[in-house]
Amino acid sequence: MIEITDLSHDAKGIGKLNNKIVFVDKAIPKDIVEINIIKEKKNYIEAKINKIVRASDLRIKSKCPYFDKCGGCDLLNLSYENQLKFKYNKICNIVNKYLNKKIKVNNIISSSNNFNYRNKVTFQVKEKLGFYSKNSYDIVEINECIISNDKINNAIYYLKMLDLNSINKIICRTNGNDLMVIIETNNDKLNVDCIKNIASSIYLKINDKYKLIYGDEYITENIKGFKYLVSPDSFFQINLDICEKLYNKVKEYVGNNKNVLDLYCGTGSISIFVSDKNKVLGIEINKNAIKDAIKNKEINNINNIDFICGDSGEKIYNINFKPDVVIVDPPRAGLDNFTIKNILKLKPKKIIYVSCDPMTLTRDLNILNDNYDILEITPFDMFPNTYHVECVTLLNLKENI
Ligand SMILES: C[S@@+](CC[C@H](N)C(=O)[O-])C[C@H]1O[C@@H](n2cnc3c(N)ncnc32)[C@H](O)[C@@H]1O
Repeated sequence: MIEITDLSHDAKGIGKLNNKIVFVDKAIPKDIVEINIIKEKKNYIEAKINKIVRASDLRIKSKCPYFDKCGGCDLLNLSYENQLKFKYNKICNIVNKYLNKKIKVNNIISSSNNFNYRNKVTFQVKEKLGFYSKNSYDIVEINECIISNDKINNAIYYLKMLDLNSINKIICRTNGNDLMVIIETNNDKLNVDCIKNIASSIYLKINDKYKLIYGDEYITENIKGFKYLVSPDSFFQINLDICEKLYNKVKEYVGNNKNVLDLYCGTGSISIFVSDKNKVLGIEINKNAIKDAIKNKEINNINNIDFICGDSGEKIYNINFKPDVVIVDPPRAGLDNFTIKNILKLKPKKIIYVSCDPMTLTRDLNILNDNYDILEITPFDMFPNTYHVECVTLLNLKENI
C-alpha cells in the first residue's frame, strides 16, 4: 500500500515503495492505493492501481466509462480546475528545472469546451474499433469518446458496420458539419456504402497513398473568419477554440509591418492569420499541406504570402527574405541544430516558438538563450483531460548581437 504525493509530467501518480519511486497509472495525489507492479527498474517502478484503499478528496468520478482501460485520456479523474493547476505547475517545474534562465510563465489559457473538442480522431481497428489501452496494442472497444466532436461520435455506430477485419485504422476529421473518413486498409474494393450517408468524403489509405472514393477532396475549417481547406494528411490543430486564442497571442507578438517567416507552416493557418498587415513566407515539408496553403491563400484573397515546400532548416539556409519575426511550430521533436543555426544567422528581432512538448522546447530555448532574451511563456490547454500542454514563447534578439 502506498500514498500518492505528486503527479509526474505525464500525469502518473508518484509514490514510494521501499525508498524507490513508483509511478502509478491513473492515481492522483492523496490517494492511498494497493498496486500491481508492471515493471521494476533499477531506480523506479511502474505500476497500476489494484485497489483504491482511500480515495483522494481531489478525485472525481470520470465521465468516461472507458477511462480505466483506455490509453487516450489521463486526467478525467481530476476536475478541470485541478487539471489546469497541474498543467501550469508542470510547465513551471520544467522551466525551473531545465531552463538555464529564470523566466515568467503566464497563467494557463483554458479551453472553453473541455469535452467534445477534438475535430480529429484516430480509431484503432482489428475486428473491433476503439483506442489502444495504455502501453499496449490491445484495443479497448468504444461506442463514444467524450473528448471528440459529436459528429465523430455519431459516426461510430455506422463505422462499426464496415468490414473491420480488413481495416487497420479509421481517421475521422470534422468541422462540426462535414465528416471526412480516412480508412487505412489493404482492400481497395472495401464496401463503404454504410457510411455514405454520414460522410462528406471517404478516402482509402492504401500503402501510405490516399485515394478519394467518395465526396469532397477537402474538409473546410474556419478560424476567425478565415477558411482553411485541409487534405487528409495535412496537419491541422485539433481544438479550434484554443487554436484561435493561441493564434491571437502569436498575432499580438508579431505586430504590424513586419517580414514574417512562418516555419513548419502546415496549411498556412498561422501565415494567413497574421498576414493582414505583414508580409509572410511560410515553409512546410508536406507537399499536400503546402498545396492546401496555396489554395487557402487564394480562397481568403490574400496576396502578400509566399509558400515554399521543403525542410525548414534547409530552405532558410539561403532564402532571399530578411525576416523581422520568425515563428516556429515544429512537431514534438522540436528544432534540430541545423535549423537553429540557420535561424540565428537570419538574426530576426523576434522568435515566436509554438511548442507541443515543453521538454524539447526548454532544450531549444537553452541554445537560443545565448542570442535571445526569453521574455515569457504562455501555456494553452489545447488537449483537456490529457497531460499534454501547448506553449507559446516570445524571444527578443539581445541588443549586443
Ligand atoms: C505542429 S504542426 C504546425 C502546423 C501549423 N503551424 C499549424 O498551426 O497548423 C508541424 C508541421 O511541421 C511540418 N514539418 C515537420 N517536419 C518539418 C520540417 N523538417 N520542415 C518543415 N516542416 C516540417 C509538419 O508536416 C506539420 O505540418
